[in-house]
Amino acid sequence: MNFRKLRHCSLALIFLFAGNCIYCQPIAKAVGETANLLRINVGKILYHGHCYNCHLTTSSGTGKALQRIREYRTFEYIYSYIMNPAKVVSENPEAKRLVAEAGSMMPAFPQFSKEQIRAMLDYLDSLPFDSNKYSFRKNWKKL
Ligand code: HEC
Repeated sequence: MNFRKLRHCSLALIFLFAGNCIYCQPIAKAVGETANLLRINVGKILYHGHCYNCHLTTSSGTGKALQRIREYRTFEYIYSYIMNPAKVVSENPEAKRLVAEAGSMMPAFPQFSKEQIRAMLDYLDSLPFDSNKYSFRKNWKKL
């Protein structure tokens, strides 16, 4: 048997076993869950290092609490805000209103990647959610 045939043969075997292997699904699930936990922990570290002082986690501080913010803001809005809040606030009356209410504007954090921001939001969303603490959102339209 030449090498090319051998390669085809081993590929076929891999597909055969990957499709039927009873251990593969739980292993894939465990790997996915571990990756998820790791991402949430990275988000926790970043969030507590850079955002917690103002936004806290599950209730508002200087800035509003941010759990489930993706139900009210597109990810593009959130990302642009974190990269350059002054720009978003100057272009958006709703954001301007919230800054006026808070009495201050947040600093920009251009060092964060989209993945890191998603990790921070996933971390917040993984915490217990109390809708009473989010009554300020009741008239919010999605931005
Ligand atoms: C020095 C205080 C401060 C820090 C630190 C800070 N923020 Fe803010 N943030 C604010 C204030 C004030 C506002 C405006 C009021 C509001 O919308 O909550 C705001 C607004 C926002 C908004 C827009 C909310 C909306 O509905 O339009 C997002 C998103 C946000 N912050 C995310 C973050 C993230 C993520 C971090 C950490 C990387 C962070 N902030 C760090 C003070 C801060």
